[in-house]
This record gives sequence, C-alpha cells and structure tokens, in this order.
Amino acid sequence: MWDPLRAHFAKVADRRFASLVDDARAADFSAQFGDMLFDYVKTNIDADGRSLLIDLLEQAGVAAKRDAMFAGAPINETEGRAVLHTALRNLDGGPVMVDGTDVMPEVLDTLARMEAFAEDVRSGRFTGQGGQITDVVNIGIGGSDLGPAMAVKALAPYHDGPRCHFVSNVDPADIAGVLRACDPATTLVIVASKTFTTIETMTNARTAQAWMGAEVSDTGAQFAALSTAADKTAAFGIDSSRVFGFADWVGGRYSLWGPIGLSLMIAIGPKAFRAFLRGAQAMDVHFKSAAWDENLPALLALVGIWHNQICGYTTRAVLPYDNLLSRLPAYLQQLDMESNGKGVSMDGADLTVPSGPVVWGEPGTNGQHAFYQLIHQGTRVVPCEFLLAARGHEDDLHHQHQLLVANCLAQSEALMRGRTLDEARGKLDGKYQGEELERQARHRVFPGNRPSVTLAYPQLTPEVLGQIIALYEHRVFVEGVVLGINSYDQWGVELGKELATALQPVIEGAATTQGKDGSTAALVGFLRSNGV
Ligand code: F6P
Repeated sequence: MWDPLRAHFAKVADRRFASLVDDARAADFSAQFGDMLFDYVKTNIDADGRSLLIDLLEQAGVAAKRDAMFAGAPINETEGRAVLHTALRNLDGGPVMVDGTDVMPEVLDTLARMEAFAEDVRSGRFTGQGGQITDVVNIGIGGSDLGPAMAVKALAPYHDGPRCHFVSNVDPADIAGVLRACDPATTLVIVASKTFTTIETMTNARTAQAWMGAEVSDTGAQFAALSTAADKTAAFGIDSSRVFGFADWVGGRYSLWGPIGLSLMIAIGPKAFRAFLRGAQAMDVHFKSAAWDENLPALLALVGIWHNQICGYTTRAVLPYDNLLSRLPAYLQQLDMESNGKGVSMDGADLTVPSGPVVWGEPGTNGQHAFYQLIHQGTRVVPCEFLLAARGHEDDLHHQHQLLVANCLAQSEALMRGRTLDEARGKLDGKYQGEELERQARHRVFPGNRPSVTLAYPQLTPEVLGQIIALYEHRVFVEGVVLGINSYDQWGVELGKELATALQPVIEGAATTQGKDGSTAALVGFLRSNGV
C-alpha cells in the first residue's frame, strides 16, 4: 500500500516546492472548518501526492474504523475496550451505546455533578475549614495532569475561579514547591488518577494528606477524587459525593473532557467548560462528515504521514505562536507518542514503516532564539507545525501581538524560501572579497525547501481550544489506523514501572544489587555513598 507513494516521492523529492506556490495552490492546499484555517501550502505535497495519500486512508479503512470508534466498538483490542472520549463531549448528540447500554445518561449526570461541585467551590458554598477555597491542587500525572495543566494555562484569560496548581512528578521538589504557596485550611486537593494506583500520584496524594492533616482536623473533607476506581477512592477516605468517576473507555491521555477536567472547570466555570466541550464536539461532527480533502484531522494526518513515513523526517516540531499554548507541545507529546509510538501492528506483526514521530516544541518566539538555528540550517529536516491566533487577549498591547504574527509568518516563509549563495554574497555588501567572501557567504546560506503547516484561528477561546485538541486527537487516530497499530494502549510504560518497584528496596538499602547489571549496580553504589 505504500509503494505508489514511495514512487511518487522519488519523482518529486528534489523539487523546490516554493515553485508550486501561487494563489490557486493557496486556496487548494488549505481548508477551513469552524473558526480555523489549516494551511499546508508550504509542503511538497501536490495534487497527485494528496490523492495517493487519500488512497492510503481508503485502503486502511479509516472511515470504517472511525465509525466503529464513535459507535463504541472495542477498537482498543489489546485491552478489549471501546474508545469513547468523544461521548464526554457529546452534549447534544444522540445515544452512545456500549455493550447494548446508552452511556450518555451517566456521562451527563457526572457532568452535572461536576458543574454543581465546581459552582459550590467557586461561589464559596463549599469551603475549607478556614473558609472559601483559594487554591486547588490537582495531583495526577500523564493524562491526569497534562490535559488540565495545558488547558488551565491556555484559558488563563477566562480564569475567574480559585488559583489552580498542578503536581505531577514524584520528585518531592514538585509538591513541596506547590504546597509552600498554599494554605491547608483553604485548599482543595484533587487526586486525579484513572486507576488510583499510579505510584507517583498516590505518593504525592499521601504527602498532601499529611500536609493538610498537620493543620486541619478533617483532611478527607478537602479532598476530591477523579477516577474509575471507586473502591480505591473510598479506601483513601474520600467521600463519594466528591468522587467523579468515568468508565474504562476513556483513555488517560484522552480524559480531559470529563472528570479529569474538573480543575479546568473550577478555574473557568461550567459555562466556559461547556463551550470548550462544544468546540470539540463540533470537530467530531466535522471529522465524521467532511470529505477527506476538506477534513482537517485527515489532512493534518496526511501531512504527518507524508513527512514521517514517506519523506523520512523523524521529528515534528509543534510551535505555537500563542504563549497561552506553551504546554501544548508537552500535551501533544503524550497524546501522539504514547498513542503512536508502537513497534507492532494490531495483529502483533512488526511494523514495516516507522512508527509515530518524535514530537517536541516551544512557543514562538522563544524557540527562535533557541533551536530554530538547527531547523533552518541543520542537516536534518524538521517539519514544523505553527499555531497562530489573529488576536490575543491584551487589547492594549495589540501592536505586540502583530509583531508576534509577523514573526510566525516570517518563519514559515524563511523555511520555504531559504537564501541562496548569491543572495548571501549580496548581503555581505562588499565587506569581504575573494575566498573569504565565499567562506563567509556559505555560512549565511539557508537551504530552504523546509516544510511547515499553519493552523490559524481568530483567538484562543474555550471553543477554539476544544476544536484544536479534538483536531489533534483525531489526527493521531487517523495516523494510527494507517499504521495499523493500536493507538489506545501503552504497554511501553510498563517495564520501567516494574523495574522501579524492584529497585526501590535496593535504593533504600533493604536489598542488594545482586543480579543487577554492572552499570546499574555502580550507579546505585555512587548514589548510596552520596546519601540517597
Ligand atoms: O504513563 C502511563 C499512564 O498509564 C498514562 O497513560 C496515564 O495518563 C498515566 O499513566 C496516569 O495514569 P492514572 O490516571 O491511572 O494515574
């Protein structure tokens, strides 16, 4: 199924795609949905390439798999589960059936309970033992942290609730730093863990319990839990009225839309949270109904497949020119790499093409002064994904936002155009002659022909953020289906967890390093002799 695309790439690989770009291409190689414009004009994908990529979607059966996902089929085959995070934002869709039962009544009931609790916290009807809640501390890791942490930051202009903090790392420096800034008598601790067994989260939760217990008589009263494991949240001492459950068909990295989003809901209020859900729901409807060549998730996936599996570019830079999205790259690292970083296809056979790419990035313009050097002149090609708001939220600083926009557009233009040796010579303006001119000019050449896409939107509202996150979720889904992998399990995180559990007594000195490899044993020796 890959051969026609490989053959096509062989024909066009050396072409300078800037030569393709005109007004007609600008219209043809971009698509709009809702508030967004997705531009993939500055890539080497042409009409033939695009139609071969769309053939790939057809051959992989993306439409049937998509419909199976939305219909609640157990497409997470290695865990025997449905994949239905979309049900959490199905605000005015119809029933969603899992094993013959409509899950929507329970989803909407939990949403209503979250809303009532969030309003109680925000209004002061729910208090700590020292009065109105001033601080919320979300303790969770991975999908139980990155989603709400990213979204709370992204929607800071809409934040009118108590301060929100996030603790994820088992490194005591993380929780100590957060708790230092909070008053136990007016803090709500939310323990966010789908399984309620994750060692980092449970260790931090017990640390928070002890911190609160030193000041407050009834610590359990200021704890809430977000989990699928009601028995474990009860055993931890959290009253069921403050436990918000969800089903196992919500994957951790897809869980922001339900109870795991409680801290976001408390920060921005239930109304704005609903707008966030509505944005995502609109993207779901678009993904289900738009033709592939107008379907934003499918197009984003096609660009990803073209660059990674066909062109062989192994990384993908996510570059938001929107400081509110500063945690988006970290969020997408889990969403994309935990989903599509797999070496075998659904049937257990080795993949014959590379798995998902390495995802990384930083907000512009910070990245420009850090790693863009490599993106422009390094020997590796790094496809870039720019995100850009037409307007910020700081009306009095609009001129500064315009400078940000100019920088973003300048980068994608520079990546495409580059600078020739002749142009570089011209820039030196008679400063050097002869061999020295050649030498100096060569350092100032930009190869160009480096691809990028741009996702532009009017302003980062709750609704637009919902659209963006759902767009990336479905992109990951499409790429996973084309690769033939299971995007919804994460067995690759297990081995490290098992070995850490086995190493803990060794680190504590209760067991020896016997049987450990020489490197690990030597590191343990060094750390123990230095006070670990
Ligand atoms: O890193 C593995 C993982 O299972 C993620 O998929 C998940 O988001 C994270 O751990 C946290 O899991 P939990 O919500 O169960 O604590």
